[in-house]
Amino acid sequence: MSKLKTTDQEIYKLIKQEEKRQKEVLEMIPSENYTSSAVMEALGSVLTNKYSEGYAKKRYYQGNAVIDEVELLAEARAKKLFGVPYVNVQAYSGSPANTAVYFALLTPLKDKIMGLNLAFGGHLTHGASVSFSGKYFKTVPYALSKEGLLDYEEIEKTALKEKPQIIVCGATAYPRIIDFKKFGQIADKVGSYLLADISHITGLIIGGVHPSPVAYAHIVTTTTHKTLRGPRGAMIMVTEKGIKKNPDLTTLIDKAVFPGLQGGPHDNQTAAIAVALKEAEMPEFKKYAKQIVLNSKVLAAELIKFGFKLVSNGSDNHLILIDLSNKKVNGALAAYALEAANIVLNKNAVPNDIMPPFYPSGIRLGTPALTTRGMKEKEMKKIANWINEVIEQIKGEELPTNREARSAFWKVFKKKVVRDEKILSIAKEVKKMALNFSLP
Ligand SMILES: Cc1ncc(COP(=O)(O)O)c(C=O)c1O
Repeated sequence: MSKLKTTDQEIYKLIKQEEKRQKEVLEMIPSENYTSSAVMEALGSVLTNKYSEGYAKKRYYQGNAVIDEVELLAEARAKKLFGVPYVNVQAYSGSPANTAVYFALLTPLKDKIMGLNLAFGGHLTHGASVSFSGKYFKTVPYALSKEGLLDYEEIEKTALKEKPQIIVCGATAYPRIIDFKKFGQIADKVGSYLLADISHITGLIIGGVHPSPVAYAHIVTTTTHKTLRGPRGAMIMVTEKGIKKNPDLTTLIDKAVFPGLQGGPHDNQTAAIAVALKEAEMPEFKKYAKQIVLNSKVLAAELIKFGFKLVSNGSDNHLILIDLSNKKVNGALAAYALEAANIVLNKNAVPNDIMPPFYPSGIRLGTPALTTRGMKEKEMKKIANWINEVIEQIKGEELPTNREARSAFWKVFKKKVVRDEKILSIAKEVKKMALNFSLP
């Protein structure tokens, strides 16, 4: 008998509902994944009861002998997997990890961060004006070329002119390989720190299907819950190059995380990160990473056959960005209709988008979660076909530009979509296929 069921029926029911949803749909949000039951066991363990402010062997509370071992194990596994001399595993999540790096190295309102523009696929914490990173620091964004690619010449020109203290590379919505070597050369020319935020592609790097930034960046941050398949969390790594540039870098980062930004670390989360890292050391993880990319490439090629316009014309990693403007369908409408068909992805801005962020022109989708369930090329072909059928079904639904008309339109559109027979029949087929692939 479930203890939760007797203690809190409402939460129990909601969790069961969410579990059912996760089983029945195709989760294609590229930043999501399914953790293993081993990771969840660590996450739900007694380690959640402990307070352990400080670092191993230097805690502010008693009773941390076991926690010290857990944290040191997580650090040792990360160091080995990434080939770095230092790692901090205490940041609560990706955004606090990036915040800690800025707090460690920058003077607020004076120093400058240069990162990929949010509207072009950068993360909020890479200097977006709506985030602390753009409010408390000076920023200079870089964009993508009109082909949707990183333009290293332009980035170098801007960096030399603006002289940012930190250059951030890494993205939230970039479907291609990132040339970390070029970024490293640019940062060295300018004298900047290079921060590689590999949150999205960390599993691909460990799996050997995306180059690693470790030889070129001074600091590497990553979330642990995306392609790495761990719990929500993050790691901050300092490379040999980073220590050479600033021998105090590791101390500065440790101090920025605690006591600078956080209190006690989430020890259950640290243990779960350690488990995920152990799983990522296994040979099967390499196969998994390879299959993520293979699936993404096949899906991209199939979508192109249906006339979809892909930003950068394809995908080298786990992610695809579709510009729907040639299909005359808005990204928000597409994401809604696809969810009604049990295909879950997100609306997303495309480079030089003329639409507002809530109604962007594109959608973003990826293969990490589906690959965890064991889906392969055959399933990707079916999915491309379903995506095309759904988009064809809502073609011609024009989103009014006027705000009030837009909200009235939405209400009617939503009702129409959930009653659409074609979409309902696709939803049934999708669910049937999804249920053939179990969750880990
Ligand atoms: C590149 C990148 N960095 C940082 C983050 C922030 O992670 P979190 O949502 O855990 O704060 C994300 C999240 O999507 C991301 O894509």
